[in-house]
Amino acid sequence: MEAPRFAIERQRRRSRRTWFAVSTVAVLAILAIAVPLAVILPRKVHGPPTAVILPLYSYPLGGAWDPLFRTLDSSHERQYTVVINPNDGPGNTSGPGEDYLAAIARLNAYANVRTIGYVRTKYASRNITSVMQDVTTYAHWSTMAANLSIHGIFFDEVPSAYSLDVLQYLSTINDAVKSSEGIASDKLIVHNPGTEPDAPLVLNSTDVIVSFEDSYDIYQTKRAILRSLPLDRSRYAFMVHSVPPSVGFKSLTSQLSTHAASVFATKLSQNFYESFGSDWSDFCHSVPV
Ligand SMILES: *[C@@H]1O[C@H](CO)[C@@H](O)[C@H](O)[C@H]1NC(C)=O
Ligand SMILES: *[C@@H]1O[C@H](CO)[C@@H](O)[C@H](O)[C@H]1NC(C)=O
Ligand SMILES: *[C@@H]1O[C@H](CO)[C@@H](O)[C@H](O)[C@H]1NC(C)=O
Ligand SMILES: *[C@@H]1O[C@H](CO)[C@@H](O)[C@H](O)[C@H]1NC(C)=O
Repeated sequence: MEAPRFAIERQRRRSRRTWFAVSTVAVLAILAIAVPLAVILPRKVHGPPTAVILPLYSYPLGGAWDPLFRTLDSSHERQYTVVINPNDGPGNTSGPGEDYLAAIARLNAYANVRTIGYVRTKYASRNITSVMQDVTTYAHWSTMAANLSIHGIFFDEVPSAYSLDVLQYLSTINDAVKSSEGIASDKLIVHNPGTEPDAPLVLNSTDVIVSFEDSYDIYQTKRAILRSLPLDRSRYAFMVHSVPPSVGFKSLTSQLSTHAASVFATKLSQNFYESFGSDWSDFCHSVPV
């Protein structure tokens, strides 16, 4: 019989070996499950749910909108607000033409897409009758077919400096949208001053304010201001162009989406609303859902 000391020593060595074997098997098992899952499952992007807001100013022929359709087909989770702009606005009162109508019906078929119509205000200097006429023209599309409805209006070139006249102008055009029967569902109103507007110009009826629309370099100088915007993130959109090639979208969109529930970013430095960069799909996939 061995001395008990040796027996215990052997026992210990054996249990260490057993422990080593068991933990190796456990680690291998975890790897065997986790590695394929990490490959199969889309990488989870961290951050609060955020929509892509896309100014889509290209003409829908020659596959110009294909990058968008490809992204929409690849995932149905992410929300998209797509700004339609046939001709610096809706174009003439008889409709935007066959190409547009077919492409809009196709976009509207996605439950996660909200189409909104582009209307310029020229910093509230445009004849307000013409602005209202543009809203009516978009609303009229819904009478051509249910799947041609526009779901809101993107007012571009909105002033950021308060005056009573500007306030009345903005209230009037917002009321025109919210009371328009032809504009569908929640009649989203987006204002684009491109910067933070004076507080009295933030109307309750304005759903989303584009409080930043500029280059990545300018964005760097405005980050502190954007971080301290007063309203809930659901009321803000940020749009950043000329993102340097070396900047990863993941960290950028995670920053942007902390303070804005609608975002757009592109590495293109020109024609960024008239064309898609090769980075379009990367950007979309970096937006938290
Ligand atoms: C309105 O615009 C559409 C599309 O550009 C065009 O096909 C049509 O001829 C225009 N109608 C009028 C009355 O100008
Ligand atoms: C839109 O609706 C019309 C009928 O009103 C239908 O013929 C057409 O196929 C629809 N388009 C799409 C893309 O769903
Ligand atoms: C705006 O346009 C309407 C109709 O086109 C015209 O009657 C009105 O006088 C214009 N208003 C201004 C301020 O120019
Ligand atoms: C806007 O909404 C806020 C908060 O719901 C409310 O206190 C305020 O009275 C509203 N203002 C107007 C002009 O309706």
